[in-house]
Amino acid sequence: MKAAIIGCGAIASRWGRSLLADGRIEITALVDPDQQAARVLAGRYGLSPAVATTLPEALAQADADVVVNLTPPELHYPVSRSALAQGLHVLTEKPLALNLPDALDLVHLAKECGLLLAVMHNRGADPDFLAFADTVRSGGRAPFAVTADTLVALAGPGFRAGQHLPVTTDLAVHAFDQVRALITAPPTEVTCTETATGFLAAHSSIAVITVHFADGSLFTYRGGYIVDPALRTDANGGWRVEGRGFAARWAPDPHRARKAPYAGPPAYQRCITAMVDALHRDGPLPVPAAGNLASIALLDAALASAVGRRPVPVPEVADVCP
Ligand SMILES: NC(=O)c1ccc[n+]([C@@H]2O[C@H](COP(=O)([O-])OP(=O)(O)OC[C@H]3O[C@@H](n4cnc5c(N)ncnc54)[C@H](O)[C@@H]3O)[C@@H](O)[C@H]2O)c1
Repeated sequence: MKAAIIGCGAIASRWGRSLLADGRIEITALVDPDQQAARVLAGRYGLSPAVATTLPEALAQADADVVVNLTPPELHYPVSRSALAQGLHVLTEKPLALNLPDALDLVHLAKECGLLLAVMHNRGADPDFLAFADTVRSGGRAPFAVTADTLVALAGPGFRAGQHLPVTTDLAVHAFDQVRALITAPPTEVTCTETATGFLAAHSSIAVITVHFADGSLFTYRGGYIVDPALRTDANGGWRVEGRGFAARWAPDPHRARKAPYAGPPAYQRCITAMVDALHRDGPLPVPAAGNLASIALLDAALASAVGRRPVPVPEVADVCP
């Protein structure tokens, strides 16, 4: 199959590397208003794709069956929608969209058109984290008090320097993917505050998010874009869970490689392989992104809470089969 990559910034290298290693996808077009970013990406991997500033312009020069959406979060919905409307499958970076109605619209459109729509969920699919979640669910009994700290020091901030609420918009969805593996009861209410720490760097910011669940469980998240790499946590965060007579902690050392038995391809690469597998399977194509709607419901409530400065009920997610 042939792919157009839309958005050729920092994360495009990870996708380019993984798709080339997989070998089942040919990258035929690179789209970015920053033409230099597209050319640098092409040069890094020895590609000679069409280089364009918009998808229609790219499609006039090259064939594509699938769009890989690596644009900033605010563009995920319009870019994915436009690709699906043009009959193209979509593999998108997280978050699927910034609110639940937009995410549902994408899922319904993909289903109607028989197209694949899949979203990256590498932190929620991390095998080490999933093993921790298994330990919690098999050893403890809800309700749980869960806390997570995720502090990220980026080499280059990219779009985040101009993004309103960058942590809630861009980072928190990882934690929403993760906490759903720990707490299976429906979330009921979210309170979110995000405060820019612009005295450190333009993109620097810290968000505090509290989620209540129907079984009485409580999740408190502290996420931040910080500057000094010495202070960062592992990108998956550091997690603590306490229940009655039960306590567990998972906090990988960010400065050390992971140990066996969970060493293996990184979670993002596993996610990309699963997406390409889904593209090549026989029969009707699935819409795996439907399984991510519950994370977008949390994101929707968190953004509304941060903007409105009040607790916000979590919108209910209609049952949509993947
Ligand atoms: N899953 C993960 O672990 C992970 C890690 C990092 C980033 N991401 C996600 O990847 C996406 C991109 O992040 P990044 O770090 O590469 O950001 P970035 O700022 O480095 O790159 C974004 C690129 O998109 C381009 N762009 C802007 N508007 C565009 C448009 N209309 N059409 C096409 N391209 C456009 C920009 O010019 C830039 O080159 C974000 O959604 C982010 O959340 C995911």
